[in-house]
Amino acid sequence: MKVLIATEKPFAKVAVDGIREVVEKAGYQLALLEKYTDKKQLLDAVDDADAVIIRSDVMDAEVFDAAKNLKIVVRAGAGYDNIDLAAATAHKVVAMNTPGQNSNAVAELALGLMVMAVRNFYNGTSGTELMGKKLGIHAFGNVGRNVARVAKGFGMNVYAFDAYCPDDAMIQAGVTPVHSAEELYKTCDVVSLHIPATAETKNSINYALLSNMPKGALLVNTARKEVINEEELIKLMQERADFRYVTDIMPAAHEKLQELFAGRYFSTPKKMGAQTAEANINAGIAAAKQIADFFTTGNTRFQVNK
Ligand code: 3PG
Repeated sequence: MKVLIATEKPFAKVAVDGIREVVEKAGYQLALLEKYTDKKQLLDAVDDADAVIIRSDVMDAEVFDAAKNLKIVVRAGAGYDNIDLAAATAHKVVAMNTPGQNSNAVAELALGLMVMAVRNFYNGTSGTELMGKKLGIHAFGNVGRNVARVAKGFGMNVYAFDAYCPDDAMIQAGVTPVHSAEELYKTCDVVSLHIPATAETKNSINYALLSNMPKGALLVNTARKEVINEEELIKLMQERADFRYVTDIMPAAHEKLQELFAGRYFSTPKKMGAQTAEANINAGIAAAKQIADFFTTGNTRFQVNK
């Protein structure tokens, strides 16, 4: 049995060592494809793999076609918009994620981006503080909950909107529930995005929604670039010199945003929310364990293509 780690953006070495231990203890062989630059390398590597562990690596129909022995793919992380689920199902491959395993790392980065923005990107000028400001969490899943916890430590007043989450869960976490995205954006000085990229959410963060935010607004995106309507964000930022956008997912229009909005726009060069040793260990080892458990007991608890 062969388990392949295929990560264009590699895990920390300590996480790979941990995955190897789980895989070899289960009696399987580990193969490693890191930092590949060409899809052909992925197509070749999956050829004889029975299981694959990926991150944001794209598993499309062509990859499933090439992976003739594949039975399971585990996305070591939360979002699985990079997996063609219909193709996985058509190839009788179980697709899983590892929810919650990297969410603290992403949450810490979201707060880090907020601090950087309100301190004027550390340019030495007088900024503002997060304490006492209203933070809106758009989607109260694993990352959103961690952002709430950390933001409360900063003394922020935390609000959340999540159509799929009961008010009680928010109230128990000391968060004020609101009942529409419009209300969240209208209420909050800072909005932090934690929605997945789905047909429903793509392009949903648009001019009309963002226009609700008060003066001095800050939008933080550690979710997915596809949820932003970039053209409309640019239009809004052209009209509103007070509006700031910081993101961990480089927009398609990165160069334009950088040129037009210097001093109130920032993107990390490569998505790094989950790029910590701890998150890599948590998500990578969870993925390896889920694979071993699937092969030995048939456990499909985290399957996302049911
Ligand atoms: C996730 O969905 O888990 C995060 O976006 C992290 O993605 P990454 O593994 O590509 O860093």
